[in-house]
Amino acid sequence: MSDKVLEVKNITKRYKNLTVLDNLSFDIFEGEIFGFLGPNGAGKTTLMRLICGMSKPTSGEIFVCGYSVQKEFEKAIMYVGAMIENCQVYPYMTGYQNLTYYAGLYKGIDQSSIDDVVEIVGMTSRIHDKVKTYSYGMRQRIALAQALLHHPKLLVLDEPTNGLDANGVIELRKTLKLLAAKTNMSILVSSHILAEMEQVCDTIAVFNHGKLLELRTIDSIQKMTQAERRVSIKVDYPNYACKIVLSSFNIEPEIAGSCILVPYDIELVPKIINALKSKGIKLYEAKTINKNLEDIYLEILRNKNRNKKI
Ligand SMILES: Nc1ncnc2c1ncn2[C@@H]1O[C@H](COP(=O)(O)OP(=O)(O)OP(=O)(O)O)[C@@H](O)[C@H]1O
Ligand SMILES: [Mg+2]
Repeated sequence: MSDKVLEVKNITKRYKNLTVLDNLSFDIFEGEIFGFLGPNGAGKTTLMRLICGMSKPTSGEIFVCGYSVQKEFEKAIMYVGAMIENCQVYPYMTGYQNLTYYAGLYKGIDQSSIDDVVEIVGMTSRIHDKVKTYSYGMRQRIALAQALLHHPKLLVLDEPTNGLDANGVIELRKTLKLLAAKTNMSILVSSHILAEMEQVCDTIAVFNHGKLLELRTIDSIQKMTQAERRVSIKVDYPNYACKIVLSSFNIEPEIAGSCILVPYDIELVPKIINALKSKGIKLYEAKTINKNLEDIYLEILRNKNRNKKI
């Protein structure tokens, strides 16, 4: 089994009477890409700031590569590279000067390491221009290069696709996957783009109101989406069609407008279609409907909110 790179143990964070993070515990393993998903104010940035030692928890402890961020900050932080909210890049220096300056804060980062990260983030052609002449997305890339310079074991990225163009998003996804696969780096990433998370993460944690609502591997989510697959059949009389399906197959389809929704079953669907036709129902269309991560995410939030005492 691979090693734990991050251990979050019973973390609570309060601001006065407001509980922003409520007794969170989870682990991230070597080479894992772990996604934080949650609506505005869920607590994603707060947790990332705690992991990077930028603020202190009210209770609980965080370990990076076995070192406590609270008690052994300098050792723990050596293993962390981060890009959280306003990135720290100096506008009056070139991208390269920024990286050289930052490299000087660590031991053992040579020029070839700087050139490597510049290439990884796709900034080779503009690296000697002043940062103030960069677009927002280019500054994001420099910030990512900074985070990668000292070869961290854990890379923490708070909404890194913010401000990137479509091509930049695809490139970032490739870069993150490559880093995790080739260097075994663990990556913690937050995003509002759910489809994006589905494509890049191995594991997803859904947050709301500072609580961890769900922790799932993408594989298990994909199995859920398949199990929830339906066939939508558009008919002239959906209520009548439902009755036919119920009496013939003991299945009660859901009605969605002029469609009935039946389970995706390769044997059953043609039988249902034949039964409907034989009763004189007109069929206009039959198509498969897949649930995606977004549907599942919204269901998780809805269900947990329903259970929540207000
Ligand atoms: N310094 C602070 N003082 C008081 N409350 C704070 C402070 N920082 C954050 N909060 C509160 O903590 C909660 C979580 O904020 P946080 O920024 O972690 O959310 P988020 O999940 O990152 O949201 P977003 O998706 O908008 O980035 C919010 O209710 C916010 O108002
Ligand atoms: Mg945030």
